[in-house]
Amino acid sequence: MKVLVAGSHGKVGRHLVRLLAEAGHEAMAMIRDDSQALEVESFGGTPVVADLEGDPAPAAEGSDAIIFTAGGGPGSGAAKKETIDRQGAIKLIEAAKDYGIRRYVMVSAMGADDPESGPEGMRPYLKAKGQADDALRESGLDYTIVRPGRLTDDPAAGRVDAATSLGRRGEITREDTARVLVATLTANTHGKTFEVLAGDTPIEEAINGL
Ligand SMILES: NC(=O)c1ccc[n+]([C@@H]2O[C@H](COP(=O)([O-])OP(=O)(O)OC[C@H]3O[C@@H](n4cnc5c(N)ncnc54)[C@H](OP(=O)(O)O)[C@@H]3O)[C@@H](O)[C@H]2O)c1
Repeated sequence: MKVLVAGSHGKVGRHLVRLLAEAGHEAMAMIRDDSQALEVESFGGTPVVADLEGDPAPAAEGSDAIIFTAGGGPGSGAAKKETIDRQGAIKLIEAAKDYGIRRYVMVSAMGADDPESGPEGMRPYLKAKGQADDALRESGLDYTIVRPGRLTDDPAAGRVDAATSLGRRGEITREDTARVLVATLTANTHGKTFEVLAGDTPIEEAINGL
């Protein structure tokens, strides 16, 4: 499958590009800057330069699926949450519709359905994520919304807990998150929204059991 990865140069994105390539997919690695091209090629990606704050749509042409794992990042303010996390994700939803790309996997976040329940500083982020998720649910695309807990850079454990609602908060490694995304792409998770944390079940089994 030819998969456009928005956020391919990010911490989850790097794992994701490598794992997609290892699984035999063609990872179209969206980068903002030509200088990142060699790096994403070294993970197994095909670089495609596009800016989510500009017009990223042409980067999607010819793909079979889009995985959105971009973001303004923890150091950015509410304006970036709006232009990248919300509007950037929605621009690629519109591009998917225009180019007939049916499959869209969104990296959302736990708490995105209820931003007011989060700490004040997180609310603009959670609100942007929640609105992007709503737009995806209403898009008519074959979507899956993946909501990890707090991301860590620990080594992958290969085991997770995944469910519509886990009833707890916690952590998951970025590499396990990327593994979940690869499994989600081809598993029957169409139209599903689920939370995922470090846990006990092998990733494929957890995703196929949703
Ligand atoms: N941190 C957490 O605990 C947590 C929890 C749940 C969900 N999430 C979500 O998980 C996802 C991955 O997180 P992460 O830690 O891998 O994030 P990250 O390392 O900050 O990566 C974000 C990526 O988005 C890219 N990006 C930013 N602005 C862009 C623009 N205008 N156009 C194109 N690309 C742009 C960045 O590009 P550059 O490399 O050029 O900067 C970077 O590659 C994000 O959606 C995040 O919101 C995070």
